[in-house]
Amino acid sequence: MMTGISDTPLRGELTMPGDKSISHRAVMFSALAEGDTHITGFLNGADCLSTIHCFTRLGVPIELSENATEVTVHGCGLYGLRPENGGTAILNTGNSGTTTRILSGILAGQAFPSLLSGDASINRRPMRRIIEPLTAMGADIVSVNGNGCAPLRIAGSPLHGVEWTSPVASAQVKSCILCAGLYADGVTAVTEPALSRDHTERMLSAMGARVKTEKLSPSGKAVLYRTEITAAEKLASPGIIEIPGDISSAAYFLVAGLITPGSEILLRNVGINPTRAGILTVLRAMGGDITLLNRRDGAGEPAADILVRSSTLHGTKICGDIIPTLIDELPVLAVAAAAADGVTVIADAAELKVKESDRIAVCTENLRAMGAQVTPAEDGMTIAGGKPLHGALIRCHADHRIAMSFAVASLIAEGSTSLDDESCVRISYPGFFRDLTLLRR
Ligand code: S3P
Repeated sequence: MMTGISDTPLRGELTMPGDKSISHRAVMFSALAEGDTHITGFLNGADCLSTIHCFTRLGVPIELSENATEVTVHGCGLYGLRPENGGTAILNTGNSGTTTRILSGILAGQAFPSLLSGDASINRRPMRRIIEPLTAMGADIVSVNGNGCAPLRIAGSPLHGVEWTSPVASAQVKSCILCAGLYADGVTAVTEPALSRDHTERMLSAMGARVKTEKLSPSGKAVLYRTEITAAEKLASPGIIEIPGDISSAAYFLVAGLITPGSEILLRNVGINPTRAGILTVLRAMGGDITLLNRRDGAGEPAADILVRSSTLHGTKICGDIIPTLIDELPVLAVAAAAADGVTVIADAAELKVKESDRIAVCTENLRAMGAQVTPAEDGMTIAGGKPLHGALIRCHADHRIAMSFAVASLIAEGSTSLDDESCVRISYPGFFRDLTLLRR
């Protein structure tokens, strides 16, 4: 249970846990590379541990430090994965969409069959978006229950390059196709309607793969982004991968610091890759006092320390190409909108409905429970901000980002708030409540 409005501002410094998207890719691509890779700043959340678990079952030797933030992967090469018992690789991807989708692309080109399944939430999430392009590449991949979701049975077969147009800007779909492209004849390309996060492209390029992205401007039509990869003979380990902190985790403290009067928080070592940093643009447009310090470019991914001071926020419009750069931050941005003066409109974000929960419905339900005025839409929501919030029982629907977003909302709510499931934060930020408490002392 959390008590709301108090005179306690949030003050102090935090180092953010490692970036979830980069942690997954660091393990996956190091496993496929030649040589050993030492990974620092690894996210020890449940999702990334699911990736480690899967690659261990595929015969990749992986060592973890005691707190699992340092990982050594002994790469097996592109053709070195082996199912544990020599038969079908039976893999549990837990709650992780990134593991399920990217791993499917890798497994499609192997010489052995696999069966991928996850928890109840994963087995409800849409997989046709990867089944269709992989099938077009010659893969043998089926949804076992015929509902377009996991469990997925993948036979492993020779692949050929395709020119695929994805209707959604999704880095998981793009990365799945690019990984299958590592094993395909010729060139594989994926075109998306806006640029989704580019960690796969950055890391595979650093390992020697030929990957490039171009901006297409068909006359009279919206700009598209086309990324192509040429089948690789091998990937070379970079030796060390230093993972920056996760801006999606920093997001909770950015909003908490802005909306809690008298606060000043320094968030150290946060990744600010432009395909991820849309939240900084939006919060500044809302009047947020946010300063980037010590900018640096570590291992192909830009990072900085971020200083945030409490501010008076006002409503804004969040839509268009910026959406993929802040898709996971929309629940906490909805909380910021409820605290802001005026109206905030979130649009072009229908993808929110197919995340760990239906985040449009779940944000609406919980914001309303706290007294906010919200109108849901098919592709977002409109929030009339500035109404005083009160404590409530928050239904998290086992969604880590909902739990953390509403823990932030509770800071400015009159009375006490409880979450029906605090444990789901382990997916991406096991130390979240400890860090929040540190700032309130
Ligand atoms: C991710 C991409 C995004 C994001 C997810 C992580 C990734 O999903 O929401 O949390 O690591 O590639 P989509 O690709 O489905 O948009």
